Amino acid sequence: MTTTFTRIHPPPAREVAGIHADVLFPGSHPGDPSLPFVAMNMVSSLDGKVSAGGKSGSIGSPVDREAMRTLRSKADAVMVGAGTLRAERVSLTSEGLRTPEPFAILASRTLDLPIRNLLHAEKERTIILTSEDSPRRRRDILEGYGIIVACGEGSCGATGLRDGLERLKEEYGIGSILLEGGSVLNHSLVSGSLVSEIFLTVSPKLIGGESIGILSGEELSSFPEAELLSIHMEKASSGSQTAPEVFLRYLLPAGFR
Ligand SMILES: NC(=O)c1ccc[n+]([C@@H]2O[C@H](COP(=O)([O-])OP(=O)(O)OC[C@H]3O[C@@H](n4cnc5c(N)ncnc54)[C@H](OP(=O)(O)O)[C@@H]3O)[C@@H](O)[C@H]2O)c1
Repeated sequence: MTTTFTRIHPPPAREVAGIHADVLFPGSHPGDPSLPFVAMNMVSSLDGKVSAGGKSGSIGSPVDREAMRTLRSKADAVMVGAGTLRAERVSLTSEGLRTPEPFAILASRTLDLPIRNLLHAEKERTIILTSEDSPRRRRDILEGYGIIVACGEGSCGATGLRDGLERLKEEYGIGSILLEGGSVLNHSLVSGSLVSEIFLTVSPKLIGGESIGILSGEELSSFPEAELLSIHMEKASSGSQTAPEVFLRYLLPAGFR
């Protein structure tokens, strides 16, 4: 199967080797060098849903998964919330595109993490951000994984995450993070002005139902307007069974990121 890709924006449109192949992440947050740079990457249906039947796997195509691996290969770490791990089997590696593989970061207050069954990542490169009140017996079970206690009871929102990100940079040298959901964790980080860019794949599928979009939480205090950085599409694909997706890259506004 021969696949070619077009970058439609910025003009002029041109053929490119791969989706997001030209992306380079900086080594820190643009407004605070003590924090890593964070870019969110999500796939959504045409009606704005990020899961179908409680899982995201059926929304994106193999082309989307390849674009995701490309982005992972550019980041020092890939991060998800515990809800995502509890929902489905998760691989947070670039599948060999990057050596060493990016760190895998999980956020969880409860430490209810089916990590051995559902996470595919190297144990010694997996770090868990948790809170002071997480159950001791669960922390003991997770011996051998990196554990950062980033917040206390009642302080586990964006402030706790900011402290956790600072420690990831300081203790592990993590300068860039690809945040891969889910919607609750995305909202915490976006509302804390900790996310600089959003990569969004729009799939032509319609899902319906009650499921959520890329952010889940209270309305944001201002409605930040993101700047469109790029649009990519698959150009031609002989033998492909799937209709093409649109790959969008946005920059969140200064003062918000
Ligand atoms: N389409 C896509 O691209 C995509 C990507 C990823 C996931 N998904 C879908 O999204 C759904 C899961 O998303 P979700 O929004 O329910 O869950 P989620 O955001 O993955 O995880 C939420 C959990 O993260 C932990 N967390 C959140 N904020 C934290 C903080 N400040 N400090 C420490 N831990 C924190 C908590 O874990 P504890 O409860 O353990 O304390 C919280 O319950 C699934 O259906 C999945 O398939 C879709």
